Amino acid sequence: MKSRLLTVCLLLACASQLWAADGKVKSSDAAYILTPPAPATPRINGANVFGVRPGSPFLYTIPATGARPMEFSVQDLPAGLVVDAKTGCITGALKNKGEFVVTLHAKNSLGTTDKKFRIVVGDQMALTPPMGWNSWNCFANKVTEADVKSAADAMVKSGLVNHGWNYINVDDFWQNHRGKEGASHRQVKDAEDPTLQGAFRDVKGFIVPNSRFPDMKGMADYIHNLGLKAGLYSSPGPWTCGGCTASWQHEQQDAETYAKWGFDYLKYDWCSYSEIASGRKSKGITETPEVPVWKSGTTNPEGAIYPYRVMGKFLREQNRDIVFSLCQYGMADVWKWGGSVNGNCWRTTGDIRDNWKSMSDIGFNQDQAAPFAKPGNWNDPDMLVVGQVGWGKTHPSHLTPDEQYTHISLWCLLAAPLLIGCDMTKLDNFTLNLLCNDEVLAIDQDELGKQATCVLKDGDVRVYEKELADGGRAFGIFNLGLTSANWDLKALTQFGLTGKQHVRDLWRQKDLADVDAASGSLPLTIPAHGVVFYKLTAAK
Ligand code: GLA
Repeated sequence: MKSRLLTVCLLLACASQLWAADGKVKSSDAAYILTPPAPATPRINGANVFGVRPGSPFLYTIPATGARPMEFSVQDLPAGLVVDAKTGCITGALKNKGEFVVTLHAKNSLGTTDKKFRIVVGDQMALTPPMGWNSWNCFANKVTEADVKSAADAMVKSGLVNHGWNYINVDDFWQNHRGKEGASHRQVKDAEDPTLQGAFRDVKGFIVPNSRFPDMKGMADYIHNLGLKAGLYSSPGPWTCGGCTASWQHEQQDAETYAKWGFDYLKYDWCSYSEIASGRKSKGITETPEVPVWKSGTTNPEGAIYPYRVMGKFLREQNRDIVFSLCQYGMADVWKWGGSVNGNCWRTTGDIRDNWKSMSDIGFNQDQAAPFAKPGNWNDPDMLVVGQVGWGKTHPSHLTPDEQYTHISLWCLLAAPLLIGCDMTKLDNFTLNLLCNDEVLAIDQDELGKQATCVLKDGDVRVYEKELADGGRAFGIFNLGLTSANWDLKALTQFGLTGKQHVRDLWRQKDLADVDAASGSLPLTIPAHGVVFYKLTAAK
């Protein structure tokens, strides 16, 4: 009996051990939950500000947790907008530029709450980083309309919508495939997929979706009817990265089509544009007008900027706010010019994978782009790899629970667009705990729009600091090492803090101590590859 007990204990110890002989942190069984459940009383979550252009269709769903049914109302709502009392969905349009401070109200059988909210009617949208879902990290080249609709349904049913998640974005593979000729190694298999065969464009040159997406407008309507927004994907080249039809020489028609269908977000992925920019010819390209060159060794960034300027202009001409997401992996220091071509966010790196090396190499190397982040302009370190991910064949994320806390904390500090990449129909409690912590998400959605930078390196410890609109600072204290670390957060004056500082643990949503910035010290234990995530504000 005794020896059996010992074996069980040993097995348990093995299952929860954090690192193994191969030097990798192992996935622990203990996917421990830190986020407290939202109260049953009403609470309004999400950003404090929303940007819209004059005349564009307005759609904002008040994100609120608490028992249903809930009743919504908005005080001082400007003329032109209405709120649906049952769903909290605000729709309509605002004609003129200006700023409105409204009060959002939510009420259920247990209580009432309200929150001040700023509506800014101007040239800019995405005043806080976009939050939503994208099909790529989950479905990749297999995505169908049914997958997208069920992701939208799950966004609502899971309650994620109540925390401010709202975009439902189709990535590559809603268009027909180029076929075998000229296809790259990666594209050959898809070239034979019967569901991807068909006309690229109609006789007038308008894009034709593939057979998996029979009704793009119907799909966007479906998403909007849930109070959510819809996104899609193309490339400035003739083909997408997966080898499907893209926008080259049809940019205006495509922008008009996206607006007509009702899409709110475009990810525009460089890929085959390399052929154009370098002057090479690709199958299907008959005439190549002069475009500025961009190939290895080119220093003038104009060739890299050009295709984004073209699409950025056409998107802005639509009577619809279409968030423009540049995807070109950080070439030509995109953060320096992305905003000037109407970009709202831009990838700063190559593709992320669900392993520590990929996530941490990307996440901890974003400082050079940080000064360029601001409301409407966000650096994008790529999509989230939590939950069931796998590019067509899903598995639970290979990141350990602590690595996943690191991933979400870091992306929020970086003011990154947050695009969930997992199967939304298979959200487990641990993943929901990562995605539903309103105090953590508030750091990402902070209206000041500053991106954190690394302010201290001490062995394996990295301290990231983000300035916040209310004068507070968010601190992520990360441990890049393979074993847990004991560390002291002290001498806060070196981070620009003075006086008594009130410390709140964001993941646990718990007040800790008040510490003196000069003489105080906070002893921490940071798990291997994990994080301690605090907000510090001047103590009252
Ligand atoms: C590139 C992008 C990915 C995804 C694929 C689609 O690799 O970086 O995010 O959009 O293309 O083919």
